[in-house]
Amino acid sequence: MRLALFQPDIPQNLGATVRLCACLGVPLDVIEPCGFPLSDKALKRAAMDYGAAAELTRHDSWGAFLSAPERAAGRLVLFTTKGAQPYVDFGFQRGDTLLFGRESAGVPDEVHAAAEGRLVIPICPETRSLNVVTAAAMALGEALRQLRPRGADLR
Ligand SMILES: C[S@@+](CC[C@H](N)C(=O)[O-])C[C@H]1O[C@@H](n2cnc3c(N)ncnc32)[C@H](O)[C@@H]1O
Repeated sequence: MRLALFQPDIPQNLGATVRLCACLGVPLDVIEPCGFPLSDKALKRAAMDYGAAAELTRHDSWGAFLSAPERAAGRLVLFTTKGAQPYVDFGFQRGDTLLFGRESAGVPDEVHAAAEGRLVIPICPETRSLNVVTAAAMALGEALRQLRPRGADLR
């Protein structure tokens, strides 16, 4: 199981996602360009000391991500407010990469079309969307609940 962020806009969200992935032992793919300069210093500041514990791979573009060794196997599962399938009804698999869109605009049609699953976290109709890190934490919580036996080493 991997987690991928498509062109994140907000450094604090990237930092919180790095921490989430470090704590849960889930590798993180960052698909650039980001909406902010992603220097090693900025990353260290946003992720605090969790950067060292995280397995993070940077990809220059969507195309580079698709042809990266990390994408060689496994399904791409997009979380989107436009998804038709509730995430708790989806059967997650170990090789899945859970993909999240950018804070300002989600993902373009090309990315939407490339996903093998398009999942929604149902929310109240009068609201627009969850924070991307909140959505990622809920998604990983459900995927890991399905896949990791109780008490198993998270790595
Ligand atoms: C702030 S939201 C993006 C909002 C954007 N205006 C849109 O309509 O996609 C950032 C990302 O969090 C995830 N997300 C937020 N709320 C979600 C929900 N209810 N269901 C599924 N994914 C969600 C998606 O990956 C989304 O691209």
